[in-house]
Amino acid sequence: MTLSLIDTLFSRRQRLAKLIHFPAILWSGTSTPRNFPANVFPYRASSHFLYFAGLPLPNAAIRLEAGKLELFIDDPKPSSALWHGITPSREQIATQIGADAAYPMAELASRTEGAATIAVQDAATWTSQTQMLDRMVLPQVAPQGIDLELAKAIVTLRLTHDQGALAELCSAATVSVEAHKAGMAAVKTAKMEAEVRAAMESVIIAHNMKTSYNSIVTVHGEVLHNEEYHHPIQPGDLLLADVGAETANGWAADITRTFPTSGKFSSTQRDIYDLVLAAHDACIAAIHPGVEYADIHLLACKTIAQGLVDLGILRGQAEDLVEKDVHAMFFPHGIGHLLGLDVHDMEDLGDLAGYEEGRERSSRFGLGYLRLNRPLRPGMLVTIEPGFYQVPAILNSAREQYQYLINWERLEQFVDVRGIRIEDDVLVTNTGAEVLTQALPTTASKIEELVTKV
Ligand code: GLY
Ligand code: MN
Ligand code: MN
Repeated sequence: MTLSLIDTLFSRRQRLAKLIHFPAILWSGTSTPRNFPANVFPYRASSHFLYFAGLPLPNAAIRLEAGKLELFIDDPKPSSALWHGITPSREQIATQIGADAAYPMAELASRTEGAATIAVQDAATWTSQTQMLDRMVLPQVAPQGIDLELAKAIVTLRLTHDQGALAELCSAATVSVEAHKAGMAAVKTAKMEAEVRAAMESVIIAHNMKTSYNSIVTVHGEVLHNEEYHHPIQPGDLLLADVGAETANGWAADITRTFPTSGKFSSTQRDIYDLVLAAHDACIAAIHPGVEYADIHLLACKTIAQGLVDLGILRGQAEDLVEKDVHAMFFPHGIGHLLGLDVHDMEDLGDLAGYEEGRERSSRFGLGYLRLNRPLRPGMLVTIEPGFYQVPAILNSAREQYQYLINWERLEQFVDVRGIRIEDDVLVTNTGAEVLTQALPTTASKIEELVTKV
């Protein structure tokens, strides 16, 4: 049985009411003008607002108390019909989301007493939050007092996904899989990265979705969050595509595939690809309730270290190399993160969601970028995204320290492998794991087939 939006939202606020005993006000955020008020940057509602309000309403707020939802939003101005057409009235929106009451925005000022909140990223909104609540509410500052209690309660709810969320997450995953297939089909004839990006994003846009982060579509996969698309695509290159869709109500997918632009991996590319895939598969097989995500990360590190020893790139024992962070010269980031209404879900709250209470980030290079450090629970959605990168700045700085542990001469033979990542979205179930993005192949031969298919 699929629950309606109203049922889903009702259940979320009932569960919140069991965790906190004070009101909470969540602002949606405002759209920001580019150069004049009617020409705005793309608007994205705050994820905490979306979780309880269900719809990406701009310039709105909700007040939650004891399981009740009050909506605060202004009716569209008469002049707005000219520019934006007929948009739903306050009452219509209230009915759609099952609000218990609905008021104009100006009424909110009289309903703020004793209320907790979470800072919204845009300056106009956090300034307004600060003024209305008469205390500093800043996005980059850790919440305190009741705001911290609210944040913890929301983390408790959003850490595992309900049926309504899963339906959205699955449709984001399905569309993202199709986008990646379109990218693979486009790469062989594309002259520039931008053409592959266009092929991928066109699938997302055609489903009336947006990208859940800025697409990474690059022949320089060693630049982890590369947002340039101008490089020419040449035979022999690997193209790394990290592209995910976001549903209209804000739920995200996050997929990476790396494919040979000419349709065939070179033998060195294939060696490293198979190694990254071995780490990917081992991590997914290890996902079960109760397993520590940090152990999944270490499993990836050890698999990569062992594979690099087997290829003659590293010298030593895998465990020892991981303890010395040598693997991190090639796999410098964490194995993944929470996924939900955001990629890197709830990282607006720092490590409150990602790290179990009492745990802190490691200062070690090989562990410090781990974004999730909790035991896994059914209903959590995580990414698994091992990679191999040759980042000149990292390798140059490591030459002295790892002079003997890295076989630099052997490494030179892998010059055509700049960056490989394989990323899937994995739901923790009662018995193990379900890969929401499994319809997109991962094996080298299947990827080659998809790239060469006419
Ligand atoms: N797309 C960003 C990431 O994979 O973390
Ligand atoms: Mn990711
Ligand atoms: Mn990604």
